[in-house]
Amino acid sequence: AQITRVLGIESSCDETGLALYDIQKGLLGEVLFSQIALHAPYGGVVPELASRDHVRRLPLLLEELMAQSGGQRPDAVAVTAGPGLIGALLVGVNFARALAYAWDIPVIPVHHLEGHLLAPLLNGVAPFPAVALLVSGGHTMLIEVRGLGDYVLLGETLDDAAGEAFDKAAKMLGLGYPGGPALAALAEGGDPEAFRLPRPLLDRPGMDFSFSGLKTAFRLVSLKVPEEDSVQRSHLAASFQQAVVDTLFRKCQRALQATGLKRLIVAGGVGANRALRDALQSLTADGVELCIADLAHCTDNAAMIALAGALHPEMAQPASAEFPVRARWSL
Ligand code: KG4
Ligand code: ZN
Repeated sequence: AQITRVLGIESSCDETGLALYDIQKGLLGEVLFSQIALHAPYGGVVPELASRDHVRRLPLLLEELMAQSGGQRPDAVAVTAGPGLIGALLVGVNFARALAYAWDIPVIPVHHLEGHLLAPLLNGVAPFPAVALLVSGGHTMLIEVRGLGDYVLLGETLDDAAGEAFDKAAKMLGLGYPGGPALAALAEGGDPEAFRLPRPLLDRPGMDFSFSGLKTAFRLVSLKVPEEDSVQRSHLAASFQQAVVDTLFRKCQRALQATGLKRLIVAGGVGANRALRDALQSLTADGVELCIADLAHCTDNAAMIALAGALHPEMAQPASAEFPVRARWSL
């Protein structure tokens, strides 16, 4: 049977999401529950708590989505099968398979990062061919997107991911989890040149990233800034953010140059960062077309999973078939 309407399920980390996407009509409905409050007291995601909360939330969210989208049944269920927290992934995958079994429709396993890559398509932008900057809590990659499913890795982080660097820097400043948005908020109005921080690997050719040196430099400087000096703290946050943004920006330029492409996709949670979005905007002066998902679809969500599933009908398989669920999975 033709697959036009897809139910997407996302549960790879600390967000439980469900969405209904129609190939012709676009997004029909979307619900998302963030577990931030649940993990906040621990300063990071606790995998076991995440799994249990996905179990609790999924049936409630499904009812909510069905009410929102007029009870329309999907033709297939797309679900994030990796990479991510294995327990959390298994909850989503088993929920997806149970639904598919009950409704007698197929399941489509989706790669979480491909979901992020395709998210700009939710706004109707056709993003191929392009260079993609994928910046999330777990990944920092530059990818040449030749077409749907045709991805060539140009560079990636040798240590921390960009989002992880934001989160760790935020933690050093005593900001809550997740740190990225909190650090960005503190940086607002701060002087990005107040503190001199390194731009790792910019002096060397290539498109790989490294953020651990920046993290160490940041730690040393932050120890000298008193907790009550809110002005200096704001300068410090702005300087850190600028160091990350500069690095990401320069590597994007390199990747565009190396491939000769004129289109840049920005995906993943750090793509929600205002300073990064503003910096990348300047590339448009050189004729580069920017494809960035709207803020809500940069961070984890099920709409991008439903969309990725709808674009991969060839991956559809019977609800009873086994498929691998992978904590680690290269694109
Ligand atoms: O893509 P995502 O929602 O989850 C995965 O990691 O797959 O990305 C989350 C990451 C976190 O590290 C978070 O701190 C970061 O994205 N992030 C931000 C901002 N919003 C989210 N980092 C900097 N500025 C932001 N505004
Ligand atoms: Zn993600």
